[in-house]
Amino acid sequence: MRKNIVAGNWKMNTTVPEGVALAKEVSEALKATKANCDVVICVPFTHLVPVAGAIDAAVLGLGAENCADHKSGAYTGEVSAPMVASTGAKYVILGHSERRQYYGETSETLREKVALALENGLTPIFCIGEVLEERENGTFNEVVAKQVEEGLFNLSAEDFGKIVLAYEPVWAIGTGKTATAEQAQDMHAHIRAVIAGKYGQEVANNTSILYGGSCKASNAPELFAKPDVDGGLIGGASLKCADFMGIVNAF
Ligand code: 13P
Repeated sequence: MRKNIVAGNWKMNTTVPEGVALAKEVSEALKATKANCDVVICVPFTHLVPVAGAIDAAVLGLGAENCADHKSGAYTGEVSAPMVASTGAKYVILGHSERRQYYGETSETLREKVALALENGLTPIFCIGEVLEERENGTFNEVVAKQVEEGLFNLSAEDFGKIVLAYEPVWAIGTGKTATAEQAQDMHAHIRAVIAGKYGQEVANNTSILYGGSCKASNAPELFAKPDVDGGLIGGASLKCADFMGIVNAF
């Protein structure tokens, strides 16, 4: 059966010393209270090696926030999936809406990134979600289905089984405006049905689908209580140990 996961996405926040201190604090907190879900932090590339050395991998997973769409070579400034894997990271966020919006990531590039992540033993946390206009004009179900289909449906059922999905409505990210638990549940059930249509009900039932967008300790219990919401991808509230642990403890 699928796992419940709470994953932090630190985005472009914290210096290396600040990040190491935060990671240590989260790791210590998790050792002190046994979490009822898997817990992951996804950190800037510069932080991966020192954070890997500072946390207990038995209680806290580590991930990157992106990886390149090429294995190696003349791509100045890029960081490859093999490089990420060599730090000890086990996860990589791919297709975050900020990457799609500000850095022009398309489904085509994302398919390359997903393939390289999987080849290197990384678990992709693959993000999907509609913008406000699509929520308001009622096309959100089709938009999100298309993102899943275009980004992932080239995978074999075995490889698809290694993917974690994160539904992040763009209008809820960093805005303080959370999707209601009902809106999240409806979308997650829709995504699961789309997966079942392609790979069958068993694969769909085994896929963890996280919710992201202004998720915090106060709304996490209601969101996580929904049958198709398998955890959260947390931005702002992952930057303070107590806030993040409040969400972890919602399980
Ligand atoms: P916030 O939790 O800050 O809204 O960000 C959500 C997000 O984008 C996580 O990837």
